[in-house]
Amino acid sequence: FKIIEQKREEFMKQSILSDEFLDLLDKNKKPFDLLMSYYRCAVMEIETKFRVLDQEYSLEYDGNPIESIKSRIKSYDSIARKVRRKNIPMTIESLEENIRDIAGVRVVCSFPEDIYELADSFLRQDDITLIEMKDYIKNPKPSGYRSLHLIVQVPIFLQKTKKYVYVEVQLRTIAMDFWASLEHKLRYKKNIPEDEAKLIAQELYDCSVESAKLDERMQKIRSMMNKGESE
Ligand code: GTP
Ligand code: MG
Repeated sequence: FKIIEQKREEFMKQSILSDEFLDLLDKNKKPFDLLMSYYRCAVMEIETKFRVLDQEYSLEYDGNPIESIKSRIKSYDSIARKVRRKNIPMTIESLEENIRDIAGVRVVCSFPEDIYELADSFLRQDDITLIEMKDYIKNPKPSGYRSLHLIVQVPIFLQKTKKYVYVEVQLRTIAMDFWASLEHKLRYKKNIPEDEAKLIAQELYDCSVESAKLDERMQKIRSMMNKGESE
């Protein structure tokens, strides 16, 4: 990968990949694939942790706090794009340290309160190290995007060693997920005049405010029902 990095400039100028460059890629495929396999393991570990919490919570209260879990490993192309955007070296070590969302786990919950409960229980586990937390629920993005983002480190136990890898965990409600999925789809529509694009962005933002209100209302209904039950 160090050599690939040195050759990158040269290679970017060529429109056709040289045999020499393809050879280099081939030789480095193994360490890259190995790194990706660590991320797949990390995702399995994190998913299991959330499934266990979901089980435990469902025994305590009725109903499961988690609606679904979706995981993904960043594709090679997407990693390469981010490397270029962040202008970091294309080496295994640099990918491991600088791209902290190669492994991503998205936990979709029923109610906003569940997000914080689950995140707390997850972060209390002693093999999980919190590196960074971004609360886009309390502070939504200008787009209207809401979710709780955690960058954590989790150990992977291999035959002879223990390896720590970064995983990005996104926790959101069904309503937040619904908004983010549709906004993501619309984001890639091209050739929209600027003033129209502004109106659309405003409309999307308004929709996110509406969906946040629905989250609050549904949560209130739940607490009304829970109160009724305990009386
Ligand atoms: P990146 O370098 O893009 O990862 O940015 P970052 O490190 O600042 O991460 P950020 O906290 O912005 O979270 C990035 C991830 O959150 C994205 O990969 C999306 O999954 C999600 N995300 C962030 N903003 C938006 C948004 O406005 N709309 C949607 N649909 N998703 C978003
Ligand atoms: Mg990111």
